[in-house]
Amino acid sequence: MEFLKAASLRRLPTSKWSLTTRRQTWTCTSCLSSSSSSPRRFTTSLPRLSSTTDLPTKPYYVTTPIFYVNAAPHIGHMYSMTLADVLKRYQSVLHSRPAILLTGTDEHGMKIQQAASNKDMHPKQFCDETAEQFKELASTAQISYNRFIRTTDTDHIQAVEHFWFLLQEKGLIYESKHEGWYSVSDEAFYPESQIEKKMDAFTGEVFMASVESGSKVEWVEERNYHFRMTALRERLLGFYRENPEWVVPAKRMGDVVDWVRNHLTDLSISRPASRLSWGVRVPGDASQTIYVWVDALINYITAAGFPNWQPGRREVGGWPADVHVIGKDIVRFHCVYWPALLLALDLPMPKKVLTHAHWTMNRTKMSKSLGNVVNPMYVMNVHGADVLRFYLMFEGGIGNDADYNNDNLLVKHKKYLQGGVGNLVSRITRSKLWDLKEIISRSPRGRIEFPEDNLATLPAIVDKHMENLDPVSALRAIMEVTTQANALLSEIEPWRLKKSTTQEDHDLADEMVCLAAESLRVCGILLQPFLPTKADQLLDMLGVLPENRTFKNTELFSDTSYGVPIANPGKGREDSLFPALYQGLQAAEEKLRTVKKERKEAKKRQRKAQRGKEVDEWWKPEASGEQS
Ligand code: ME8
Ligand code: MG
Repeated sequence: MEFLKAASLRRLPTSKWSLTTRRQTWTCTSCLSSSSSSPRRFTTSLPRLSSTTDLPTKPYYVTTPIFYVNAAPHIGHMYSMTLADVLKRYQSVLHSRPAILLTGTDEHGMKIQQAASNKDMHPKQFCDETAEQFKELASTAQISYNRFIRTTDTDHIQAVEHFWFLLQEKGLIYESKHEGWYSVSDEAFYPESQIEKKMDAFTGEVFMASVESGSKVEWVEERNYHFRMTALRERLLGFYRENPEWVVPAKRMGDVVDWVRNHLTDLSISRPASRLSWGVRVPGDASQTIYVWVDALINYITAAGFPNWQPGRREVGGWPADVHVIGKDIVRFHCVYWPALLLALDLPMPKKVLTHAHWTMNRTKMSKSLGNVVNPMYVMNVHGADVLRFYLMFEGGIGNDADYNNDNLLVKHKKYLQGGVGNLVSRITRSKLWDLKEIISRSPRGRIEFPEDNLATLPAIVDKHMENLDPVSALRAIMEVTTQANALLSEIEPWRLKKSTTQEDHDLADEMVCLAAESLRVCGILLQPFLPTKADQLLDMLGVLPENRTFKNTELFSDTSYGVPIANPGKGREDSLFPALYQGLQAAEEKLRTVKKERKEAKKRQRKAQRGKEVDEWWKPEASGEQS
């Protein structure tokens, strides 16, 4: 247990700590908080736990999808990573619970084979280059991953081969001819009923495409291996029935159940190596390559130590995952294929699948294949990681898509960070009119009421949102409180009261300062998973001791020890926690106002037209031939 604590404190990678004494190279994720883009690497040998009595508890285990390396990452990938990171940090930083985060890259399959060939590169060399970009994104965005897995890693290839072997042992693999529509872009077969004719708007080319994803499909006829997925239909349906909240948000569960009920077929799980050479070969049959989705999904258990699980110690490596974070585009793979594969081997199911909506550009899904992307590295280069993390978490969609907009980022930054938290901390920590430490040590209270008591209930509200895997709502609740605190401060004006001659005014001022400082302290603690650097800086400016920054410290007035800054709260505007962003702000605000106005007017016109139509139709004689 002691070892486990030490490991989680130093953020040692934990995915295999109980399983091996081999020397391994790990990424020290605690180094990620520095702005340097390449994390320090170090070698450690992990001790073998001796008896079952010192078995550590299962760490909280959260994963992101592993991303195709066909092109550089964009905002959507950073969104999944950040959601997962916030979930992990919430457990590890706020609840002091050992937690591990897995991210990485999906490097096999036709899509990558073609992308590499288009660049005249060997697939491995191509993968090495792009995987590095994803890794760099994770580091720059301060994603505290414990392992960055690549499907070309040796332990993963071995895990896939072993998984195949077990499926075969169970008699769940058979060989037969396969024909159907295949999308290289989605790496998926689609049934005839889900195919339609489409025309390319630019070239006029007519092609067959998946109704669901819109991706081009091609007709494929070949011999390959199949996974007897239909044999698992009843068990799958039973699992969904018993776990109606397995998919978050629940609205996406309906489609999953419908799919299993009405469209489940056996799954083609290999391709002839003559067509697809870039992948894991079928054990015992080198003429076939394992289907990339089977290969990819297994990554989640590779990183948790499969297949080297010692009896009774499986959970030490993290499995079953507490949350798979995925985009809504890959729900079927994670909520049908993956549970079917796990059920086939009697392995435990992941506890939850958080499926989020997409970032769009002008209402079209941002995608590597389309190229309509925003490069998060550029944005972070200009504004820093925390600002982009904030924007993605504040505006991002779980249920509904969100449209990415740089102007909106500037405006939200000004409203909530610079003018909100940043302004509040400057107002409280920089004033020479009061002694913060002295006020906090007394913690005067009782006369000012926080609107609807939002501050006292905030931690519980945030906790509930996080339990529901809804960091977006959690962050919004925190920002709401900082906005209210600022408004209250502007209303009560302690700086004016401090110049008054009455004791009563002075007392009121002290109480307001204390309440504002408490708002900052509580919000600062809760913001740590979202803004790892800025929240630390904020708590440093307030002088909150590092050991007093966990969830249990969020109780109001429970900490009377702070008030002497550990970090200099600065002087001018440029020196503040959130300095103003570059000068494009005014233009951005203007542009946004115009867009909003235009949208409002368009809606008005639409409503008017609709009313007119209704009136017209109401007066129209029935089509029953009344006139004749
Ligand atoms: O599907 N908005 O990889 P992928 C939000 N390799 N999130 C987005 C997004 C957008 N516009 N675009 C992508 C694959 N994402 C497989 C996964 S997992 C075993 C294998 C995010 O590179 C989102 O999480 O196409 C989505 O599900 C994932 O990236 C797809 O990434
Ligand atoms: Mg994709």
